[in-house]
This record gives sequence, C-alpha cells and structure tokens, in this order.
Amino acid sequence: MASELTGVGLTHGNGFRALQRISLRLARGERVAVIGPSGAGKTSLTRLLGSALRPSEGRLEILGVNPWQASAGELRHLRARIGTIHQAPPIPPRQRVITAILAGRLGHWPVWKGLCSLVYPVDIDGAQAVLARFDLADRLFDRCDRLSGGQLQRVGIARVLYQQPDLILADEPVSALDPTLADAALGELVADSERRGASLFASLHAVDLALKWFPRIVGLRAGEIVFDLPTARVSETMLRELYAAEGGVLPTQAQTPVAPRDGAVDAAGTPADGQVAIAVVRFETCRGR
Ligand SMILES: Nc1ncnc2c1ncn2[C@@H]1O[C@H](COP(=O)(O)OP(=O)(O)O)[C@@H](O)[C@H]1O
Ligand SMILES: [Mg+2]
Repeated sequence: MASELTGVGLTHGNGFRALQRISLRLARGERVAVIGPSGAGKTSLTRLLGSALRPSEGRLEILGVNPWQASAGELRHLRARIGTIHQAPPIPPRQRVITAILAGRLGHWPVWKGLCSLVYPVDIDGAQAVLARFDLADRLFDRCDRLSGGQLQRVGIARVLYQQPDLILADEPVSALDPTLADAALGELVADSERRGASLFASLHAVDLALKWFPRIVGLRAGEIVFDLPTARVSETMLRELYAAEGGVLPTQAQTPVAPRDGAVDAAGTPADGQVAIAVVRFETCRGR
C-alpha cells in the first residue's frame, strides 16, 4: 500500500516553518533517498511519515491510512507496520542488546508474549541471526551502554530488520559508521526491503550512498522539494545547487570513490548518459566530513 503526502506543510510549535508544499508518493516496495543540507527538513519529513508529527496543512496517508483520523486501535496497527531507524537510537542504556532487538516485534506480539520476553528472551536465535548480518552476533547479551555509537546505530538497524515492517523510515541511519561499515549496513537494509517488498524511505547525509543504493532521489532544501527524480536523471548541477549554502561541496561518506551499483559506469570508467552525478561523487574527496 502506498504512502502519500499532498500539499503538506509543517510549522513547529515555536512557529518555525520547517516544511511547505510537500507532495510525495511512495509506492509499495519503492526505495527513496532524501538528501539536502543540514536544516533542510529531512528529519521533520521522516517524522511526518512516521506519524510522530502532525502536518499543519495538507493531506497525508501512510500505508493507506490517515493516522490523524484513525482510531487508537488502527493507529497501533499502523505503527506496528512502520519501522523507524533513528540517527541516535532511543534505546535505554541499561537494556541488553537482545531485549532491544526483540522489542522490534513487540507491536506484533500478544501482551503475554512481550511480558514473557522481558523475563526470558523468546527468540534468541532470531535475534542472533539478525545481529550477525551486522557483525554483532557476539554482543547479544551486552548492555547497550557498553556499545560504541556505531555499534548502537547498527543495533537500531538490526531491530527494524527483525521487526519486518512494511514501511522502513531511516533518518541518517549510517551517520555514525565508517565508510566500509556504512556501505555494508545500507546494503543489508536495501536487500531486506527488496526481498520483502517493503518500502524504504531514508534521509542520508552522504550523497554518494544515496546515489549508489537508491533508484529515486528527493532533494530537499529550506523545507521544500527542489527535485524528485530517478537517480539517473540527477545532474551535478542539481546537486551543487542543492548544497549551494554549504559552498556547493557535496557531502560524501567514502574516503575513496564508491563504484556505482549496477553498470552506471562502463568498464572503461566512462559514465553512461545521465550518470553525471554519480561520476562527480566518485571523484569527490571527502571534504564534507
Ligand atoms: N521541534 C522543533 N521545534 C522547532 N524547530 C524545529 C524542531 N525540529 C526541527 N526544527 C527546525 O526545523 C528545521 C528543519 O529541521 P530538521 O527536520 O531537523 O532538518 P534536517 O534533518 O534536514 O537537518 C531546522 O531549522 C530546525 O532547527
Ligand atoms: Mg536530521
């Protein structure tokens, strides 16, 4: 089921206008990356899609449901179908990793199963399997406050994979990871959404990762969508204009160039038509961070 925003605006409690005229449709199984400078409204947009913030105007449907007209039961059901990966996962520091992972399914389990799991984890094998995909299988029984920021961020991603939601919302999900781990973690996230036909909407700081892993890119600046295009049609000029306030420097994750995913650059290294942006990012040095 699709998620759709039509003419949506968002004014924060202090009167700050964070988003305006946002129209966006995310089809079932579609993968979209939102990029843009700091303060563009990426987190605000992700929170709207997660029904954590209410739009000030416009229409919004998440997985075919308007969360602001839904009953309490419908809202609970909807939220169980949405998996959110936060930039800094809101995991209680004293919680064990396994409990944090299993919490991903709490919304799907009957109350008795959730309570039992607090006393004795009900699915150790399942939690371990998902952590293994992020090289964290040996941290299963560690307390979360013993993990580094990057490890905690990977636990946050693993939890959402364990949840198996229909819509994954990821707000800068790999910002605390080094380039190799960031690329691998994003690869896992993309593979999972592809395999299950889940929609994936991710805000990314790093332009190279967005171009590599996502077939559609939304450019957001000062609360407005400035382009919404298939990745192959995103040009260098568009990217430089998007980041004009940051001197036109494109923030990238990789110290070394990241090869495009599927044949965007031919064997001789010449970019195919419409792949200018990818080529530019390939040769960018890491000046953004
Ligand atoms: N709760 C809030 N109250 C007031 N202003 C906010 C709030 N959250 C974000 N903003 C402002 O809205 C703008 C967009 O923020 P945000 O969505 O976090 O952007 P991004 O994720 O692209 O950096 C920023 O100027 C930010 O200061
Ligand atoms: Mg943000």
